Amino acid sequence: MKQLIDKLYETSALTPAEYKELIEHRNPELSEYLFEKARAVRIKNYGHDVYIRGLIEFSNYCRNDCYYCGIRRSNHKAERYRLTKEQILECCLIGYDLGFRTFVLQGGEDGFFTDEKMVDIISSIKTDFPDCAITISFGEKSYESYKAFFDAGAERYLLRHETASADHYGRLHPKSLTLDKRKQCLYDLKEIGYQVGCGFMVGSPYQTIDCLVEDLLFIKELKPHMVGIGPFIPHHGTPFADKEAGTLELTLFLLGIIRLMLPSVLLPATTALGTIHPKGRELGILAGANVVMPNLSPKSARQKYLLYDNKICTGDEAAECRYCMEKRLESIGYKVVVARGDHKSFK
Ligand code: 5AD
Ligand code: FES
Repeated sequence: MKQLIDKLYETSALTPAEYKELIEHRNPELSEYLFEKARAVRIKNYGHDVYIRGLIEFSNYCRNDCYYCGIRRSNHKAERYRLTKEQILECCLIGYDLGFRTFVLQGGEDGFFTDEKMVDIISSIKTDFPDCAITISFGEKSYESYKAFFDAGAERYLLRHETASADHYGRLHPKSLTLDKRKQCLYDLKEIGYQVGCGFMVGSPYQTIDCLVEDLLFIKELKPHMVGIGPFIPHHGTPFADKEAGTLELTLFLLGIIRLMLPSVLLPATTALGTIHPKGRELGILAGANVVMPNLSPKSARQKYLLYDNKICTGDEAAECRYCMEKRLESIGYKVVVARGDHKSFK
């Protein structure tokens, strides 16, 4: 099995059968070997730097009904909220003073935020913070809408593909959402010129190792600049309330594989990873991740932006998370940097 990791390290690719074998036969010793290689690649590309992204969760209204997600339309118990443009700009100001140079505007697919409103918000942030990167993440839109946001100053887009198996996609989403549409959006975003992030949940219901192999092959084909992966965690108000959560162990293993597949990818150690294990994000960094995304949303909002149960940091202020992350990363020999943290191909 170690020779498969060596091959992945040297060539950044395996055959589908080899990915499957590697994932199936993983064990603690093999994982440690993988993480050593993943760290070597990560350090070669980015040193011990960790990029921070200030996450602003601006709306939890959503027209979709994904079976896994706590802010799905049918969860009538979710307390809905929207931030105003002024509140969003205030988050950016607080974030800027804390050293953030990327703002991530994330929200559900909320019809209230028309293209016109989003363009206005994006251009205002760009005017007030010209040295910052704006990442947006609010789901599936038309090519024209994506283009309008890009022209307004958004440079990066996060849209997880969730699973690259059409069958599995159909078991996680209602019929109104399809994998083809999701992939089309990702290709549109790339064509427009965004730095694009895809990704998936680890251990989502009905996921098999074959699904994960498909995810890896799709990632290799798309060549995204960012890949967001984290464990699935059940939310009590969804159809998946009683499903099991994904594991730390498999998430870390996949982080290591993805680092070797795309050596210069921007790879976050996600909040979900920090939720299933107290040292999850640190372990993610040690498995090859190089990004963390502390929350900049006002406290009132973050207590309502609940995609899954027991989400961490919902009671902390932006500054607390910022310094908490710094300490956590220092404790493992890494450092938070004040920088936009673009993908290498965009510098
Ligand atoms: N557990 C873990 N991650 C989730 N997401 C949504 N619901 C859950 C959940 N229950 C992830 C999805 C989505 C991202 C914003 O959050 O992958 O793309
Ligand atoms: Fe939020 Fe530690 S990162 S409290």
